Amino acid sequence: MKRILSGITPSSSKGLHLGNFFGAVKPHLEFQEKGECFFFVADLHSLNSVFSPSEVSANSKNIFIEYLSFGIDPQKTTFYLQSDITPIPYLQNILNNVVTVSELARMHAYKDKLQKETDSQSINFGLFSYPVLMASDILMFEADIIPVGEDQAQHVEIAREIAKTFNNRYGEVLKVPELYVKKEVAKVPGTDGLRKMSKSLGNDISIFEDEEIIKKQIMSIVTDPARIHPTDPGDPAKNPCFAYLNLLNYNKIKKEVDPTVIEMMDQYKRGTIGDVTIKRIMFNTFMECFSDARAKKRKLERQSDTISDIRTNGSKRANEIANKTLEKVKKAIGIW
Ligand code: ADP
Ligand code: TRP
Repeated sequence: MKRILSGITPSSSKGLHLGNFFGAVKPHLEFQEKGECFFFVADLHSLNSVFSPSEVSANSKNIFIEYLSFGIDPQKTTFYLQSDITPIPYLQNILNNVVTVSELARMHAYKDKLQKETDSQSINFGLFSYPVLMASDILMFEADIIPVGEDQAQHVEIAREIAKTFNNRYGEVLKVPELYVKKEVAKVPGTDGLRKMSKSLGNDISIFEDEEIIKKQIMSIVTDPARIHPTDPGDPAKNPCFAYLNLLNYNKIKKEVDPTVIEMMDQYKRGTIGDVTIKRIMFNTFMECFSDARAKKRKLERQSDTISDIRTNGSKRANEIANKTLEKVKKAIGIW
């Protein structure tokens, strides 16, 4: 049975959005039925940008609960908080010697930050070493497949390189994993219709927010600007609602009498359907799709003992495996 591993960084209090769901959570859930899964909340990764202790703990607890609400099954999956697995930063420290500064300087996340930051000297080392921590997360569990969104693909590639360099130097110790990026949802567009959906760009639709906030986010989706009246012909490619409706499987859940996405796109081209109508359909579809997860989150938030048991059991199993790998690695490199 293949071993699948992935994680999510709790870098904001905003919680998970539609892009996170389709780019990360949903592919993870699909793997849950196919292999032996290891999923986790990467709280150590959030430390390069979240400096408030109360935010670090609130964000990671929130994402832990949201991830579970979507249907992570702790009976089938080893589900844990990254910081509970103390061998992970230990292995990161070892792997720091297997990667060069120039390899890390080529990473997009670092380069993007370098471009944005006026003072490049103020970028913390946690951000620079972020891919090494990620490599440690991955290699620790001898995973076969790493499903991630397109933006994380480069980090998985470097984890593969790190494993190969390590094995060349010390013998076949680490498993080289495969990258998996689900193509059709590789990049969920944002509500600005321009860039990928991202919480930091404010173009996201939050899954667990209050209904009114979600409604506002959906109503503010930027649609074809050339269309002033609902009777003006529009370009469906300039309205991300159609992409969202397809992702949400609207055609399968809609009522018989409702138009399909293709029919709506055709009406859009002819100017016989208004943007507000489409957004209303989008809002109703969204709320229907996520009503179970939203209800589950409200329930779990009141069950702190259950959450704490899940956390303890997951970390126990993850630590057992991690300690074994770390012992193998230490032996291979000459630490006794
Ligand atoms: P954000 O860009 O909102 O800060 P993160 O970087 O925290 O999101 O991403 C968490 C996970 O969700 C990653 O696996 C990432 O690939 C995925 N993801 C984020 N945004 C999108 C998107 N717009 N489309 C597809 N996947 C996404
Ligand atoms: N960096 C990933 C993100 O921001 C989360 C992550 C941490 C991860 N370690 C990982 C994903 C290992 C896959 C494998 O979403």
